[in-house]
Amino acid sequence: MKIELVVGDILRHKADMIVVHHFEGEKTAGGAAGGVNAAIGGAIASAMRDGDFHGKWGETLLLRPGKGIASPRVLVAGLGKRAKFTADLLRQSVLPVMRIAGKLKLKSIASALPGGEGIEPRTAARFAALGAALSGYEYDRYKSEKASRVERFQWIEPRRALAGPVKAGLDEGAAIGEAINWGRDLVACPPADLRPDGLARAARALPKGLRAAAAGKIRVRVYGRNEIEAWKMGGILAVGKGSEAPPRLIVAEYRGGRPGEAWTALIGKGVTFDTGGISLKKWEGMEKMKYDMAGGAGMLATIRAAAGLGIRKNVVAVVPAVENMPSGTAFRPGDVIRMMSGKTVEVLSTDAEGRLILADAIAFAVKRYRPAAMVDAATLTGACVVALGSVTMGMMGNDERLLSRMREASASSGEKAWELPLHEEYFEQIKSDIGDLKNIGGPEAGTITAGYFLKEFAGDTPWVHLDIAGVAWREKERMGYAPGPTGVPVRLLTQYLSREG
Ligand code: BES
Ligand code: ZN
Ligand code: ZN
Repeated sequence: MKIELVVGDILRHKADMIVVHHFEGEKTAGGAAGGVNAAIGGAIASAMRDGDFHGKWGETLLLRPGKGIASPRVLVAGLGKRAKFTADLLRQSVLPVMRIAGKLKLKSIASALPGGEGIEPRTAARFAALGAALSGYEYDRYKSEKASRVERFQWIEPRRALAGPVKAGLDEGAAIGEAINWGRDLVACPPADLRPDGLARAARALPKGLRAAAAGKIRVRVYGRNEIEAWKMGGILAVGKGSEAPPRLIVAEYRGGRPGEAWTALIGKGVTFDTGGISLKKWEGMEKMKYDMAGGAGMLATIRAAAGLGIRKNVVAVVPAVENMPSGTAFRPGDVIRMMSGKTVEVLSTDAEGRLILADAIAFAVKRYRPAAMVDAATLTGACVVALGSVTMGMMGNDERLLSRMREASASSGEKAWELPLHEEYFEQIKSDIGDLKNIGGPEAGTITAGYFLKEFAGDTPWVHLDIAGVAWREKERMGYAPGPTGVPVRLLTQYLSREG
């Protein structure tokens, strides 16, 4: 889908459908809706007077005015109360528009750009483009009949003076959205068709489709069993052992900063399928465990977005990719693993595999890159789904400054994150009798003990852990996403990386 700026008059612009907006409880006066209303003989105002439409959040009114404007259809989208409107709601408001366009098999949409209290034009444009890109996403690789797609989504800005910032915002949103959709395809892919080498192949193709200047700043390396053995990454080796598909360590560098400038490391869980291993999961819902690599896909997509945006930072993504399978060669409960860092871990459940591979990836990132900041994202615990549901990701860390930057990035990107404490008292729960640590901490505070386990490997490096188990995949349409992969936490991280200093 092309996302474009048009400077001009929405009344005269021709598309399959034009979109204007309406806040709840307001008169149809100024703005694009007012102009369209006047041009089509007051049809919007009369629909509101008769109670066909109120401007409530998510509400839509489709008109076929016949004359008065250049386009055949007008869609009025309700935005709810003006005082509650945010940039992220602007993004979410595009989903019902795309739903209608899909049903009618429309090819082109031209939309007014709604404003809101205190939302800068560039920010509004960024969220608008994101909304178009994200809500136009559909995974139809395995469908014989492909979904009808909108080919062109134009945003109409009548004021020439705003063309610069609006164009910049639209380009930003389109770049982030494109990267997110690239990652969503990986998450949605069936597990037999995306095993560790498949994820590695996708990572190698990560620069494809970017402008040459951006692609030139990316370097992807993939390591196999030999290197993983040589580096004594006992966690990755143990988890990968049960599968015929050998593990991979994917390292994607983006050099957007000055040479020699400190790295930001992004570590993402890349379990391409999590059966639980010998501690086998029950069958119900196991098919969903193809999304256990959503953290890894998210970190790779963040590299793609950073390059697309031209972010001036050096960023490296480290993704340990394994398939967690039960077999005669699988690791066992009771095994003690020596990790890359030298610490030993007693395995109590082979289903708590994410922390084992992440611990080695974190140790690798610290040793190789000495990052100034490190963030990991993982579909790590079912406990996080219980605690925060599919609205908010869990956040933990060892550095107040980094945590507060993530909180800010979360607020301005709209990707919700909430902090859980890593109090020292929790350490007791993951102390082992036979080794240094055990890989589960009992039934209490499961998200925290998983985070605490990772903290033991981050050392002094400022680090934040994001548990995205609840938010990486949604069963129901929610928060502007169709059911399926969400691409979390790419919006949060691009916002964090975009910040100066
Ligand atoms: N991949 C799962 C966590 C998960 C659960 C993600 C549900 C998404 C939805 C992880 O590897 C796992 O199995 N964790 C266990 C840990 C337990 C054995 C301590 C869990 O949460 O049950
Ligand atoms: Zn597991
Ligand atoms: Zn897992």
